[in-house]
Amino acid sequence: MEATRARVLGIGAYSPEKVLTNQDLEKMVDTSDEWIVERTGISERHIAADDEASSDLATQAGRRAIQDAGLTAEDIDLLICASVTGDMPFPATACFVQANLGLKNAAAFDIAAGCTGFLYGLNLAQGLIRSGAYKRILLIGGEVLSRTLDWTDRATCVLLGDSAGAVVLGPAEDESGILATRIASDGTKAELLYIPGGGSRNPASHHTVDEGMHYFKMNGRETFKHATRNMAAIAKQVLADSGLELDDVNLLVPHQANLRIITYIAEQLGLPMEKVYTNVQRYGNTSSASIPLALTEARERGKLKKGDVVLMVAFGTGLTWGATLLRW
Ligand code: ACO
Repeated sequence: MEATRARVLGIGAYSPEKVLTNQDLEKMVDTSDEWIVERTGISERHIAADDEASSDLATQAGRRAIQDAGLTAEDIDLLICASVTGDMPFPATACFVQANLGLKNAAAFDIAAGCTGFLYGLNLAQGLIRSGAYKRILLIGGEVLSRTLDWTDRATCVLLGDSAGAVVLGPAEDESGILATRIASDGTKAELLYIPGGGSRNPASHHTVDEGMHYFKMNGRETFKHATRNMAAIAKQVLADSGLELDDVNLLVPHQANLRIITYIAEQLGLPMEKVYTNVQRYGNTSSASIPLALTEARERGKLKKGDVVLMVAFGTGLTWGATLLRW
């Protein structure tokens, strides 16, 4: 008999109230709505309030996902938070979320895989549920990337946004659930996309702050190249693993970093854009939050229905990338 798959029992998302438009950015740095839309597809993004940290956004999304699953806090036996913008260097952001939600029966830890964090979490959850070790896993991607940005650097500050998205996973009792999942990394390219200061390599000091080492740094062109190549390849691999055909895929929900990357991936896979969900236009790149946020919106808008085959694919700092195919 085939081992039990993990399936999504509930889903939820949260974005902070404040919206920063391209027109607002035009007043802050030397940029234009035209440039940002043409190169990225982004028109606006949500920005956390001064008193909101990643765990606050993650808590809201997690609460909604538990409610959507028809469960209570006590039912959750594991909490995984995917984030590269945790509240503090330690403890894990998941521990703050556990306290906020009162998940007294859950172990809690973080994974740091950048924009691929949510798909790393799904991969892990599939294994943990298959093994029988856990029955109700809350997986949250939550980021406050705005705190890592140099708001005078037009090359990065226009790209990112703050949000959280969550799913509750449990054993599948029908045809639904994760059909195939793969994750990958290439640490030799770590410095294409990183924050060099504030860790044990370059601990926070006047020097690191003066040099701006606590800011998000990216080689955009190189990142673009690796993103397109690796995402298309791994998406094809999970499709082959599952034994399904491209025609079986009802919806592609890619990491929402850049509309040009998304269009390219869809072309490479041979999927028409009507089968691709995008909301990068309204949220920017929210890293690990982007896929669960897009899934939540897609379901709300009637684009994701029971039985649909959904292909998810992501790419991020590390470098990391991954893909998951699931039946909703
Ligand atoms: N407004 C106006 N002009 C700008 C801006 C801006 N916001 N930013 C850069 N430019 C200028 C540059 O200075 C450059 O000018 P020059 O030709 O006079 O030197 C010109 O525009 C072209 O710059 P490029 O960086 O070459 O532009 P490119 O077409 O590569 O687009 C972008 C940049 C959008 C960042 C693209 O490279 C990209 O999307 N890369 C992938 C990023 C990504 O997906 N990251 C995901 C991971 S994020 C994570 O893991 C948290």
